[in-house]
Amino acid sequence: MQVTLHQLKVFKTVARHGSFTRAAEELEITQPTVSSQIKQLANAVGMPLFEQISKQLYLTDAGQELLTTCRDIFERLDHFEMKIADFKGTKQGNLRLCVVTTAKYFIPKLLGKFCQKYPGIDISLAVTNHRKLNRRMQNNQDDLYVLSQPPADLDLQAQSFLENPLVLLAPTDHPLAQQKNISIQALDGETFIMREPGSGTRQAMELLFDQHKIAVRVRLELGSNEAIKQAIAGGLGLSVISTHALTGEVSNGELTILDVQGFPIRRRWYATYLNGKQLSVVAQAFLDYLLVESQNIPVATKASDYPMAISA
Ligand code: PGA
Repeated sequence: MQVTLHQLKVFKTVARHGSFTRAAEELEITQPTVSSQIKQLANAVGMPLFEQISKQLYLTDAGQELLTTCRDIFERLDHFEMKIADFKGTKQGNLRLCVVTTAKYFIPKLLGKFCQKYPGIDISLAVTNHRKLNRRMQNNQDDLYVLSQPPADLDLQAQSFLENPLVLLAPTDHPLAQQKNISIQALDGETFIMREPGSGTRQAMELLFDQHKIAVRVRLELGSNEAIKQAIAGGLGLSVISTHALTGEVSNGELTILDVQGFPIRRRWYATYLNGKQLSVVAQAFLDYLLVESQNIPVATKASDYPMAISA
């Protein structure tokens, strides 16, 4: 089969954008050139790679297979370049990282210091929820993933590096706010604000409530931890949130952590990648860095930890 790396690059870009025009813009070539490259590639493969259904471009089965192959080829070439740079004594190349929504409270800060240490490394950081991250992991789209609760149905390398306690958050004037050691049954019938379906935080909260047969009233679903904190402060309900997402709302008296049995829900952060995947030089450097530097991140698990955690 006669194909060139250039054709594969054009194909990969069209598949990513789902559009010949946008691929042409990104690659700074004309749209007819993109079309002719894809046509030549399809001729070499002997099957169509895309099909167009009501103006929308879809990969055919053959196209999907070629995309997986393309990712492998370009990943291997990237790894090769990184190894050569490493032989020359520098760390250089691309790091593709995908983290769950809640990890955005500490990963970007760590990345900042990592980039200062290795200025030759370019980072792409995808932030998404637990379910979407799993999908990306299955498709081998990134080098490394950061999440709590690695999925049991995927064959993964997973290194635990930090606690991720989930606490029950309420407005300070909530009737349970002054009580200690509250029975979890007291939450039955309470009004809650939930993260969106697919969120790992939501999954953990639902599991705990199912175990204790607690039925809560869901008033609102929100895809952002920041919006949830505002909604709690506004009196719209209670919610469960990672302590990493608390950035002063408890210490300044805006919100309070309820002392309910079963909380905090104890989870941990993991850095994961698919078993059998060869980590690039750059991804390995970041993993090593993460495992060491994350130990300096303060983790608060109860209200009295806050002044310490905030000032640390
Ligand atoms: P989430 O995941 O941001 O999707 O809720 C966080 C977690 O799994 O703890």
